[in-house]
Amino acid sequence: MNDTDKIRIGILTSGGDAPGMNNVINGVYKTLRSMSFENSKAGTGSTDKRKFELVLIKNGYKGLYESEFQTINAQWIQLIDLGTQMGGTIIGSARFKEFENEATRKKCIDILRKENIKGLIAIGGDGTTTGLQKISVESGMQCIGIPGTIDNDVNSSEFTVGFDTALNTIVENLDKIRQTADSHSRIMIVETMGRECGDLALHAAAAANCDLVATKDLNILEPALIELIKQMYTKKQRRSMVVVVTENLYDVKKVAKMIEAETKCETRSVVLGQIQRGGTASAFDRYLATMMGVFAAERFANSNKSSICVGLQGNRLVAIEIQDALNTPKTPEKNSALAAKVLRLSGIITKKNI
Ligand code: F6P
Repeated sequence: MNDTDKIRIGILTSGGDAPGMNNVINGVYKTLRSMSFENSKAGTGSTDKRKFELVLIKNGYKGLYESEFQTINAQWIQLIDLGTQMGGTIIGSARFKEFENEATRKKCIDILRKENIKGLIAIGGDGTTTGLQKISVESGMQCIGIPGTIDNDVNSSEFTVGFDTALNTIVENLDKIRQTADSHSRIMIVETMGRECGDLALHAAAAANCDLVATKDLNILEPALIELIKQMYTKKQRRSMVVVVTENLYDVKKVAKMIEAETKCETRSVVLGQIQRGGTASAFDRYLATMMGVFAAERFANSNKSSICVGLQGNRLVAIEIQDALNTPKTPEKNSALAAKVLRLSGIITKKNI
């Protein structure tokens, strides 16, 4: 078998970057490399002589559309290693709405075929997986999705790569916000990311011992939120109040002004923003990401050629058909429900008390 006979597998990261994406790439690369080495050893008696080659696709689906392929050379081997201790994604990411058009995907499939790519791994959130499912159906290629997003909004996996790191960043910032809030006896309204998903806000509020949390699921309208804060302020037992809210629910600047007017207590708002996406991945994210990468790479050596998503369920990695993964409903067992209970136990008001 010479180099041209290698089975080429493409990998890309798409959508919002998430800490740990680089660790997935490392897990996939090292596993494909070691499987190829094992298969090439003489005298093992194995009939599997296949060799795999990982091909990096830069800047997500946009890079695929623009044929941004990178073969792994000595410099990239070094970068893959260094990347395991770096945030972001070493191969770049992009938001690419045009991928929703069939014609755009057709061009991408033609490019993949021209590049002799036999399998595709995409690391990202729901949007990335939706695109991957279409590529899988329209091309017949084996595709594997790995959940990588800080939002933790992939229902088929208890945790997504990047969530834990972002959570740690938020908690670290909430602790700092508490210190200044205590010093000035202020009310602070802190907005986290998460898109439609409240997991970042809920988990962070529980971990940082905050006073109130509002997420989309809790469905607290703006006047009710202000009323709650007012009530809590009158009964407050702490010097300060820290309220955590998920993005896209309220105009936090406006809410802060209204609370200040109602309570006569100095109130400030903080939007944590993209800072939540940065930073070196936590140990948990590195571990999860690496294991998901290994799991995905091993699928290419299996006889089962179906397209799947990797998920963490009951502390085990599982393969879920892509369509089933996309159709997985949000279950009450999902961790946010547990976090809500933790908040109630701590005496923090949630919807139950409204
Ligand atoms: O999906 C990750 C995420 O950080 C969301 O939490 C947020 O809504 C969005 O991306 C922000 O994206 P951008 O950086 O493109 O504005």
